[in-house]
Amino acid sequence: MDRVPEPRRSDREVRVATSTGGEYPVRIGSGTLDLLASLIGSLSPAHAYALIADAKVFDLHGERVRAALDAVARPITVHTFPSGEENKNREHWSRLTDELLSTGLGRDGCVIALGGGVAGDLAGFVASTYMRGIPVVQLPTSLVAMVDASVGGKTGVDVPLGKNLVGTFHPPQFVLADTDLCATLPRVERSQGLAEAAKHGAILDAEYFAWIDSHASALLDGDPELTSVLVGRSVELKARVVSEDEKEGGLRQILNFGHTLGHALEALSGFQLPHGSAVALGMILEAKLGERLGITGEGVADRLSRTLRRLELPTALPEDSDVEGLIDLVGRDKKARGGASRYVLLSELGTVDRGEGWSRKLEASDVRDFLSRPS
Ligand SMILES: NC(=O)c1ccc[n+]([C@@H]2O[C@H](COP(=O)([O-])OP(=O)(O)OC[C@H]3O[C@@H](n4cnc5c(N)ncnc54)[C@H](O)[C@@H]3O)[C@@H](O)[C@H]2O)c1
Ligand SMILES: [Zn+2]
Repeated sequence: MDRVPEPRRSDREVRVATSTGGEYPVRIGSGTLDLLASLIGSLSPAHAYALIADAKVFDLHGERVRAALDAVARPITVHTFPSGEENKNREHWSRLTDELLSTGLGRDGCVIALGGGVAGDLAGFVASTYMRGIPVVQLPTSLVAMVDASVGGKTGVDVPLGKNLVGTFHPPQFVLADTDLCATLPRVERSQGLAEAAKHGAILDAEYFAWIDSHASALLDGDPELTSVLVGRSVELKARVVSEDEKEGGLRQILNFGHTLGHALEALSGFQLPHGSAVALGMILEAKLGERLGITGEGVADRLSRTLRRLELPTALPEDSDVEGLIDLVGRDKKARGGASRYVLLSELGTVDRGEGWSRKLEASDVRDFLSRPS
């Protein structure tokens, strides 16, 4: 096999454009937390700051973050919430909002979000609704949050009828991804982040996909240099997409590759199947579906499958899967338009099919046929 070119070192800054004509930087690399106070001073000056943190992450990295905030010389209050998706809800939004109000944080305040995607979405939602919106700074600490959730401005909470159904677009002032913080991340959480990174390669950059494949084991082990390169490349790709289409009117839909079936699989499992694992399965199934329909090139699903297996992600539906339940859930996906389900399909690895805009409406009967005999 040809040698896969190494992406550039990622100790750098990527800029993201917003739909209102602004832009914000994402700083990525080992030790970048040292830049926190100076970035806050120049990009998000405020009268006071509220640090909203995942309690587990705060236990691990709170001291380091506090030290980095020392030079800010403004009042800083700390508000934690218990780790876990089940806490990304309106109850914690409400409690945190009340806590901020009781500390007297005003319209000239700023929220700092510390943790994985849950902290980013929850704290971002608090910031976007607090006194009709105050600025937020994102300090992602999980690989999922670094490669994906902290970039693009989506915030929100889960409600009983589904995930992320209440939320806003609220771009941050800046994102600071210190990849050193990933050192404490459990291997299974690295795997989750690698699923979204592999998705970036699958939709936009076949070379990057091959690079992830060839470094799978070191990435799972948390190699710091490779992790930095990975975050840099994924952020670059995601930034390119959301800079063009922040509100998901067109191009941003491609980030949903693997997600139509992925979300349904997540829901079907009662949210026991983690998101990255569900998306891994979703990508393979959607590639097989594309192959079956003659849209995706032969062999793409197999390549996806090989790499995702290397990343320790699930690659086959359990034998006893409830296909009817799955199809029913697909129809309820919030990205379904007019009752029909939309799928992002690949034409080749690294390229999205443009047959009907950025996604295709597929008949439930075609999807049902496919899901009853997926291989
Ligand atoms: N806004 C967006 O565009 C977007 C995109 C993708 C995902 N998301 C959201 O992100 C969430 C998933 O993100 P996630 O996987 O980061 O979940 P998470 O925030 O729950 O983090 C996963 C686990 O890792 C722990 N953790 C985080 N950083 C750590 C560290 N440095 N060391 C040790 N443990 C650490 C957390 O405590 C948690 O137990 C979902 O709610 C999803 O909807 C949002
Ligand atoms: Zn996702």
